[in-house]
Amino acid sequence: MKIQHNISLKQYNTFGIDVNAERFVEITSVMALKTLLATEKDLFIISGGSNMLLLSDIKKLVVLLNIEGIIIQETQDNDVFVTANAGENWHDFVLWCIDQNYGGLENLSLIPGNVGSCPIQNIGAYGVEVKDTIHQVTAVEIATGKTRIFSNEDCDFGYRNSIFKNELKGAYIITTVSFKLTKTTHQIHDGYGAIQAALKENNITEPSIKDVSKAVIAIRTSKLPDPKDIGNSGSFFKNPVVNTAVFEKIQGNYPSMPFYKVSDDNIKIPAGWLIETCGFKGKRYGDTGVHKNQALVLVNYGNATGKEIYALAEKIQTSVLKTFDISLDIEVNIVR
Ligand code: EPU
Repeated sequence: MKIQHNISLKQYNTFGIDVNAERFVEITSVMALKTLLATEKDLFIISGGSNMLLLSDIKKLVVLLNIEGIIIQETQDNDVFVTANAGENWHDFVLWCIDQNYGGLENLSLIPGNVGSCPIQNIGAYGVEVKDTIHQVTAVEIATGKTRIFSNEDCDFGYRNSIFKNELKGAYIITTVSFKLTKTTHQIHDGYGAIQAALKENNITEPSIKDVSKAVIAIRTSKLPDPKDIGNSGSFFKNPVVNTAVFEKIQGNYPSMPFYKVSDDNIKIPAGWLIETCGFKGKRYGDTGVHKNQALVLVNYGNATGKEIYALAEKIQTSVLKTFDISLDIEVNIVR
């Protein structure tokens, strides 16, 4: 365990923001993590670095969490419990599950980041959220160095939300995530329009989990920028939920607005549509911009600073508020 000094974090965050860590250490085992916690408490944890916007140099000790490994824990009739360590790359883990014919994660193919961060914002795509398969989460408390097991309920999951973003923000380091997956009879989630279209194009009527994964990969590749080519953090904002009165007022002016009903009085409006309607889609400002295929994604074309991207986010929020009277919440973790 060697502490390094003045390390650029550009390669460790998918936005590709070039800020420095005054001190930096890579951790590859829980034992090393606990040893570190005995003397260091003021930490900034980076795993896949896929859901953060870094605004300035990090004064805290930056810990690159790189604990790898997958264990098949227990199998029952149609269920298998698989535990992955936090540092496993998410998409590689999803592909590994599909190779074993373990179902449940296929709709979440190609999401950037590592396994350890998936519960924090309850990653979700194409009708599935990771909370649907998480059995339990193991985490080490920073204050005490003690291990705690969180059941699915303990995680208090919500839309792009969990206890790790709220009451316990910054208190625990997630070390493993256990998933309950299916072995033979899989539940296929192909109701999402774009998935159906992709399957139809390939004449697939009874899709396997691999077919669904391939469809998701094709959709994501066509819509979302690969962080290896253009820095980004996926959806920058959450989709806002409004009440029926607000929704009907907007719909009166924009009859073709897409929406999803979430309850009798609550309607989710795609933030991407709001941002596009405000004219930002595909716009570039210096090295920052709004992606041309999905307005929910802010991008770094090379040398943008975190502050420049944040300024663009604020400009978008102001415009959406002025046009629709809706406040857009940022989904990405802003690190000041
Ligand atoms: N839309 C526009 N303009 C845009 C983008 C979207 O009009 O620029 C419209 C689309 O035409 C569609 C609707 O908005 O009618 C929904 O678009 P899409 O299916 O792309 O999904 P989304 O609501 O924009 C959410 C997630 C994505 C996830 C997709 C698919 C959030 C914040 N984002 O986006 O998650 O991949 O659904 O399930 O909920 C991520 O979190 O990083 C992420 C990419």
